[in-house]
Amino acid sequence: MKIIRVKNYEEASEKAYEVMKEFIKPGAVLGLATGSTPLGLYALMVKDHEENGTDYSQIRTFNLDEYVGLPLHHRESYYSFMHTNLFNKVGIPEENTHVPGGLGDLEANCKAYDEMLAKESVDIQLLGIGADGHIGFNEPGTPFNLGTHVTDLTEQTRKDNQRFFNDLGEETPTQAVTMGPATIMAAKNVLLIATGENKAEAIKGMIEGPVSEECQASLLQNHPSCTVIIDEGAGKLLENH
Ligand code: F6R
Repeated sequence: MKIIRVKNYEEASEKAYEVMKEFIKPGAVLGLATGSTPLGLYALMVKDHEENGTDYSQIRTFNLDEYVGLPLHHRESYYSFMHTNLFNKVGIPEENTHVPGGLGDLEANCKAYDEMLAKESVDIQLLGIGADGHIGFNEPGTPFNLGTHVTDLTEQTRKDNQRFFNDLGEETPTQAVTMGPATIMAAKNVLLIATGENKAEAIKGMIEGPVSEECQASLLQNHPSCTVIIDEGAGKLLENH
């Protein structure tokens, strides 16, 4: 793992953009994430597109996950998140973007997603990390050999994500469709960003703990090209890095 220490969220986003921009070229396949973590990076990608005209028309994207049961255009669906925060702002053709389907026949959706991904080579997979060490929505205990699958969200994850649903008076969904650990590991490069003290334990487990299904992100220790950007808060429990 290549570990980059930065001061705060803003610097983490800038560093992440420096890494990402090398991959933003025609023909690239980007693996993307949602949540608070990548928002700063996406804003920099949008700024670059607006100011420098960087072309996204021949870039394809595959997102990590989607909630089960939310209508596609629900404000908090990951489909909406990606369109609001990135896709609509950089002019990427709709048919080039892929988000797992959280409606209808979920098993068929997972199979179709894996079949599509089997024909692709993701150049770089962007990741955040959950306070429980999840990547994608692979919660503790998920077998490392799983591909895209349906998962139950832990109470911790639902609590962590409740902030997005509060003003709608809704509860965080209980399930998600997510790329599996094996799907994530198939990417040629991985870029994980972690900021804030609530990620410190997960980061400690990921970098200095044993490779264990109890801390899903620890599997990245085995990835041949993984860059991790951590700010002061997220890195505060690290002893040897
Ligand atoms: C999002 C995803 C999750 C988040 C993680 C951190 O697509 O797969 O693993 O990256 O839950 O979320 P934030 O960034 O909101 O702290």
